[in-house]
Amino acid sequence: MKTIFQNWLGHGTALVSAVTVSLLLAGCNKPAGDQPGAAGGNIKIGEFASLTGKEATFGISSHEGTVLAIEEINAAGGVLGKKLELLTEDNQSKAGESSTVVNKLISRENVVAMLGEVASSRSLEAAPICQANKIPMISPSSTNPKVTETGDYIFRVCFIDPFQGTVMANFATKTLKAKRVAVLTDVKSDYSKGLAKFFKERFLANGGEIVAELDFNGGDKDFKGQLTAIKGANPDGVFVPGYYTECGLISIQAKQLGLTVPLFGGDGWESEKLFEIGGKAVEGNYLSTHYSPEVGSELSKKFVENYKKRWNGKTPDALAACGYDSALVLADAIKRAGAIDGPKLRDAIAATKSFPAVTGTITINDKRDATKSAVILKIANGKYEYLETVEP
Ligand code: PHE
Repeated sequence: MKTIFQNWLGHGTALVSAVTVSLLLAGCNKPAGDQPGAAGGNIKIGEFASLTGKEATFGISSHEGTVLAIEEINAAGGVLGKKLELLTEDNQSKAGESSTVVNKLISRENVVAMLGEVASSRSLEAAPICQANKIPMISPSSTNPKVTETGDYIFRVCFIDPFQGTVMANFATKTLKAKRVAVLTDVKSDYSKGLAKFFKERFLANGGEIVAELDFNGGDKDFKGQLTAIKGANPDGVFVPGYYTECGLISIQAKQLGLTVPLFGGDGWESEKLFEIGGKAVEGNYLSTHYSPEVGSELSKKFVENYKKRWNGKTPDALAACGYDSALVLADAIKRAGAIDGPKLRDAIAATKSFPAVTGTITINDKRDATKSAVILKIANGKYEYLETVEP
């Protein structure tokens, strides 16, 4: 089922069909001419997200952060005298769906900009479409370098995996005192393949040894073969640059096989669902990510408070914070551009400098990425415990 989540009328995540949406739009104030993306006097922003499926918590968290930002901006009077209208499409965490929904948001809804995605492979699927249509796209949290390399309309508000891989390689060497590490990669995921590569490069440069390299395919449920081979190589730790569903299962099966060394990975481990899937077996593992609600600026504290109020007491994760920041950066760029046409908006996003955001201060660099610190978290006592912040 194709759905659009309407938020601009203050319905939160009320589910309405595309047909209802056009009716709602038709019933709004008279459109300001036939300017694309400005029907009904609103500025239309597209969002594509994994609201259901294997990585549903990524999409939901990111979406909730984005909605909060849009609602706050609108409550403060909107942008250029108009309200922002968020049109969200679910890609069901499935390959092939992002291109469909992004095409639809551009051609049928005339959005002026696109927010998304979390997973690098899905951002990579949509980016060429946004680029070809001159619709600026801001990924909140895709970390594979190739995403923004797609072209000059594609941006992100997070760090990239050469940094994240370095952070975790140094953590393995210095904190875990690991000399022999095994790597278990999801070969279906651009994120996983990239992060594995960047991790290995730095870990080897640190004088470490990669004692086993094994693969899986996202969606797999049985990792016993790979974990048996890894156990045989007698590592001090296992680097698993995966997403939470597989990481939870891998944690369980590792313990079942008597592989008790720590597992560690990147931001993809972050989800409340990890604890449901992996139970006690995830304890003692580590990850790097973009944000921890336990530390941060006054802005971050305010965000945690407002997010909890808006989303039934839920504590925001890194995905929510990055989603929030992506919408803030876009709104700020629209303001500075004083316009909503693609090239002007692109130039304004590219000119983002020292923008105070929840996950840190955002400056978009010449590669259209943000240079920001990472946090390292330990999985302990049924939650993510903040360990340290690593500056770029
Ligand atoms: N960085 C991951 C990717 O590029 C996505 C992700 C971001 C996952 C933040 C969890 C938290 O695929």
